[in-house]
Amino acid sequence: MLRDEFGISKVIYPGSFIQISPSFIFSYVVYVDSDKNAVKFFKSNALVEMINERKEYSEDPEIAFHGIDYSNLIEDYHSKFDLLISQYAGFISGVCRPYLRPSGYLLVNNSHGDAGMASLDSDYKLIYAVHKTKGKYRLSNSSLDTYFIPKKDITVTKELLLDRKKGLGYTKTAPLYLFQKMAK
Ligand SMILES: C[S@@+](CC[C@H](N)C(=O)[O-])C[C@H]1O[C@@H](n2cnc3c(N)ncnc32)[C@H](O)[C@@H]1O
Repeated sequence: MLRDEFGISKVIYPGSFIQISPSFIFSYVVYVDSDKNAVKFFKSNALVEMINERKEYSEDPEIAFHGIDYSNLIEDYHSKFDLLISQYAGFISGVCRPYLRPSGYLLVNNSHGDAGMASLDSDYKLIYAVHKTKGKYRLSNSSLDTYFIPKKDITVTKELLLDRKKGLGYTKTAPLYLFQKMAK
């Protein structure tokens, strides 16, 4: 879905832990995680075999792993990626934004508040809510302005989200959101 409709080929996944499912869809994925078990996992020779068994593309998979703190940005990767993934691993949308090319995409959930953070960021525009029905993901761009409205009568700021470190309750939610980085 994302690969073909949005022309995504290069993907970076900071805070991936051992979650290699992006490599089943995308042939080029860079993983970043500082956890020692992730470091060990990505050393395994069985990894490419595991990906080959499940991949949905014809070319050979290409993966790279960096066992570092994702806030230590890797200069060579700046503006190189079509898709940045942020799942349950903190505020990646802001810190790792330099990795995205102009008009690149951010796929993010709100577990740690990062989707809410992206919604407040003028460098990103929400283009789809991603819903899951009967095990299948579905993109919806209807009434996007009705997401990220807090349940409580509060003013949501980046500082508030940074302090909480987990997602706020919003009146309408989706499991995932697709944002686009504004071209500058
Ligand atoms: C809850 S796990 C989520 C893993 C994966 N994203 C998923 O959805 O299953 C959070 C991961 O983020 C990593 N992480 C959190 N902060 C990080 C940082 N600043 N630099 C590198 N990795 C980080 C942790 O090491 C951990 O592996």
